[in-house]
Amino acid sequence: MMDAGRHPKIELLVDSEVENVTGFVGNYRAQVRKKAQYVNTDECTVCGECEKVCPVVVPDEYQEGLSSRKAIYMPFPQAVPSSYTLSAQDCLGFNPIACGKCKEVCDKQCIDYDVQDEIIDIEVGSVIVATGMEVYDPRENDEYGYTSFPNVITSMEFERLICAGGPTEGELVRPSDRKIPMRVGFVQCVGSRSASRGVPYCSNFCCMNTVKQTLLMSDHYPGSESIVYYMDIRAFGKGFEDLYRRSREEGVRYLRGLPGNVQEDPENHDLIVDVENTVTGRLEQHRLDMLVLAVGLVPRQFETNGNGKRPIDEILSLSHTSDGFVMEAHPKLKPVDAPTRGVYFAGTVEAPKDVKDTVTQAGAASGRASNLLSAGEVKIEAITAVVNTELCAQCKICAAVCPFNAIEAADKKANRFPDFIEAACAGCGTCAAECPFDAISMRHFEDQQITAQIDAVLAEDRMEKVVTFACNWCSYAGGDTAGTARLQYPPSVRLIRTMCSGRVDQSFIYHAFRKGAPMVLVSGCHFSDCHYINAVTWTQKRVEKVWTKMEKLGIRPERLQLEWISAAEGQKFARVMREVDAMLRDVTEEEVEETMRILDEEEAKRLGSAA
Ligand code: FES
Repeated sequence: MMDAGRHPKIELLVDSEVENVTGFVGNYRAQVRKKAQYVNTDECTVCGECEKVCPVVVPDEYQEGLSSRKAIYMPFPQAVPSSYTLSAQDCLGFNPIACGKCKEVCDKQCIDYDVQDEIIDIEVGSVIVATGMEVYDPRENDEYGYTSFPNVITSMEFERLICAGGPTEGELVRPSDRKIPMRVGFVQCVGSRSASRGVPYCSNFCCMNTVKQTLLMSDHYPGSESIVYYMDIRAFGKGFEDLYRRSREEGVRYLRGLPGNVQEDPENHDLIVDVENTVTGRLEQHRLDMLVLAVGLVPRQFETNGNGKRPIDEILSLSHTSDGFVMEAHPKLKPVDAPTRGVYFAGTVEAPKDVKDTVTQAGAASGRASNLLSAGEVKIEAITAVVNTELCAQCKICAAVCPFNAIEAADKKANRFPDFIEAACAGCGTCAAECPFDAISMRHFEDQQITAQIDAVLAEDRMEKVVTFACNWCSYAGGDTAGTARLQYPPSVRLIRTMCSGRVDQSFIYHAFRKGAPMVLVSGCHFSDCHYINAVTWTQKRVEKVWTKMEKLGIRPERLQLEWISAAEGQKFARVMREVDAMLRDVTEEEVEETMRILDEEEAKRLGSAA
């Protein structure tokens, strides 16, 4: 942090918030609200006189509320910039001035109550999102008595208590009576790995954090007893297994089983823990001085805007996995890239991770960003959208559905057609599929190319074919996985690849039925996996529209299937293909011909009204 603060090419904007980002890779323009800094950070010498006279006392967030701070304070000893900060929220009020003592005693006169927020415009080539995470709040599910018993604390509070820079200068004391706890229990997976009591995923760092804390205990307090209650210990990193072994060799007891009941002895505030040892199958009761809850990580909670979306997601077109962490462009090949070009992730905003992985990812993200910037130009896939202005009715639908904000909307009054920013277009094809006037084409995935493939599939033995639209990244790759695993699926399935299921136009589906397809399958990524942010949601809406219309026209909607198959789901791919093949057997020649007749009539009507 110090290095970053001193680096001539790094400008730190503390207490600032990105309010908007416009533009595209290499040409972003960010609007940043720099919150009012009532203390001039360049002038402050950290003499501490202001803090001494400040009459306000509030809990210190940095010390997990275990000590207090003033309204004007140093956030923490190594804070950058090294300067006092004034919390407007906690101050007695400087408009009108209700106290003013800090200003009076400041020799350097670096306190100014009249400073206002400032909006700064910055031009940047790329953006790194590192908005961090939060820890799970054990009050949400108070099964271990966190809110009732003072000696039940979280691993974060333990960390502050045992840290030399903490409120007790490293002396571990029980909150109830300030005695040194010599019998300490650690409960693992509090809020993690349980969909009903927290989050379903593993928070990644808690096992090793507990191992470290048990070692600190035995180092600081020889003769102390530590017992760790766990489901399983995940010591998977370099050197971690050694650390875990050392902790056991130090005499730390690892008991497989989580406490079922925690009570407090009202006489001395000791904790009585009932637990089933799942290795021996016996119930055990332990008397402890302190119980530490190893709380997991949860995605950072941001206030949502009017649309129920988090502003950062809207600003940077980010999407999320089902557990709330941001989604990468590709989990294996582009693990630090956002789907939006020029945006990268670092740290726990992407997934729970420990310090080492966070630093590694931050290095990778800055490397990716500097590669991009030093190249001076970007290479993009040639699969981009093109508008035909002769057909375009300037309806603006394309701009509204583009997941990447790559289209500047048309303007009828100004007779302006939509402007496609090629560097920002990722090539999902949603705009082309949604355009009601067929005015947009996708390079390499043109309408004619796709309908020609449909025609070729149905040219012979059409009753034996399932026309299957498969997204490049998931379903098509799922087919590959099925193939490499030698899984059997029927030869009736004929795949037509699109980059995203969002490219599958309703007209492709009708075209397939009109040409005699007995069954059509549209398959794409699971919602949280779509490589084009939310393009897959448009696929679903579109298929639902087609189902409704099929029902209206008297065509069995079951003949159009929609499935989400990931690249890893070779088994599912093969199963779905077998199921669709079984449905194919129920479709009769007469049914297909009737459908062709109905859709031919519909098409004739459409062409008639268009003429
Ligand atoms: Fe697979 Fe969008 S990338 S559905």
